Amino acid sequence: MEWSSLWSRILNKLRPRLPYGLRFDRSWAFGFVLGSSVFLSSASLAYYYRTQWRTKRALTIPKRPIELRRNEVLDGVTALIGNTPLIRINSLCELTGCEILGKAEYLNPGGSPKDRVALRIIEQAEEDGLIHPHTNSTIFEGTVGSTGISIATVAKAKGYNAYIIMPDDVAPEKAMILERLGATVEKVRPVSIVSSQHFVNLARSKALAFGKTELVGPNPFDIETEGEEAFENAREDLVVTTDMAAEDQDLALSDNPAKQPRGLFADQFENLANFDAHYNGTGPEILRQTNGEIDAFVAGAGTGGTLAGVGALLKQVNPEVKLVLADPQGSGLYNRIKNGVMYSSTESEGSRRRYQVDTVVEGIGINRITANMQKSLDLIDDAFKVTDLEAVVMSRHLVKNDGLFLGSSSAVNLLAACRLANKYHAGDGKKTIVTILCDSGSRHYSKFWSDEHLLANGIIKAGQEIPPLESIL
Ligand SMILES: Cc1ncc(COP(=O)(O)O)c(C=O)c1O
Repeated sequence: MEWSSLWSRILNKLRPRLPYGLRFDRSWAFGFVLGSSVFLSSASLAYYYRTQWRTKRALTIPKRPIELRRNEVLDGVTALIGNTPLIRINSLCELTGCEILGKAEYLNPGGSPKDRVALRIIEQAEEDGLIHPHTNSTIFEGTVGSTGISIATVAKAKGYNAYIIMPDDVAPEKAMILERLGATVEKVRPVSIVSSQHFVNLARSKALAFGKTELVGPNPFDIETEGEEAFENAREDLVVTTDMAAEDQDLALSDNPAKQPRGLFADQFENLANFDAHYNGTGPEILRQTNGEIDAFVAGAGTGGTLAGVGALLKQVNPEVKLVLADPQGSGLYNRIKNGVMYSSTESEGSRRRYQVDTVVEGIGINRITANMQKSLDLIDDAFKVTDLEAVVMSRHLVKNDGLFLGSSSAVNLLAACRLANKYHAGDGKKTIVTILCDSGSRHYSKFWSDEHLLANGIIKAGQEIPPLESIL
């Protein structure tokens, strides 16, 4: 059929439908097409100029890392916890071709993500009616440092005492901070977790010894008056005691539980308030900050709370997000994930330098499955092992190229993030990998950031330059 006859057939079809005797002819159609084109081109021009104007304006407005709002005064130091910025690690993005983003948890007031955990553990215990502020109550915890500092910070801010038991071989600056924060600090020889003298077990027994009555939450009970049956409703993971031997006996024996001094074992390893802090805090923040555009989350595990909490939240929203473990040398987790067996080569007879996890890295790496870690085991997709030297190389690279002065676990996280980036193929598109910047290098002057310490422990060799990051990726 010819075009002209097709055109007249269309016009004939439309003609009877036009009102008021209007005629739908060739000039009508021409006018319609012309009008639409003018409209579309002016709309696109307007859109173009508006975008240009916005870009220009954005350039003239100075960038602020955190939005400061009018009339916004935070309620004490605990209100500073969380909502940490997410930053692009520029040098690593250039090196790997992926977006490598770090959640700046070291900007929390207590200097690490453990602030979130300490706050959640204490608030949970308050909500359950187990502890009450300003009653001379004490929070007990066994920790390699960061959690202790966070517990001491939150405890003081909320009206409690802190009693921290830590291994005596961790960087001494952590104990100094704890003491300055007014916590009671007990340093003990590092021993195996099965020993009653392990710092975690000691913290538990100290909490028990705090009072004569053991109360197990969340519905506290007195075993002497309620008998064995009371155990049925109890959560045995919690230890809360009442100080019946308090100097002020009237207070200790008072019927008002809100006035009794209590001893609480925080128990970051087994207490699932740790998982909750990340599932309800760190995870949703990462999701918002990336607009949900995240391909992988990488983190080391000390208790496993961060990995499990953030991982569970991200995978719930998008099961395609990869959860990746960054494991320091000496930790058995890498083998547990890859081969199903908790083992590290440093466990073998005669090769052990240190009693816990045999590494200069502090805060991550474990040789047992904790309740918090357990929640991540079915979610982890991949794992990378990072040696002490590799962590040192990464930390020195970050200072030189990004002005980032970070602690050892952050270096392990970022190295694993780079390894993951290299595992993606060029054709996979630009992937976004998020990890945690746990604490500042200033917590590690005397060990991880001390060349003498690294030399003495054979991590670096005398007269040998620290290799560039590119050579180990
Ligand atoms: C220094 C440091 N590294 C790593 C971690 C991650 O540990 P976790 O597995 O207990 O969440 C923490 C926890 O806050 C930390 O303080």
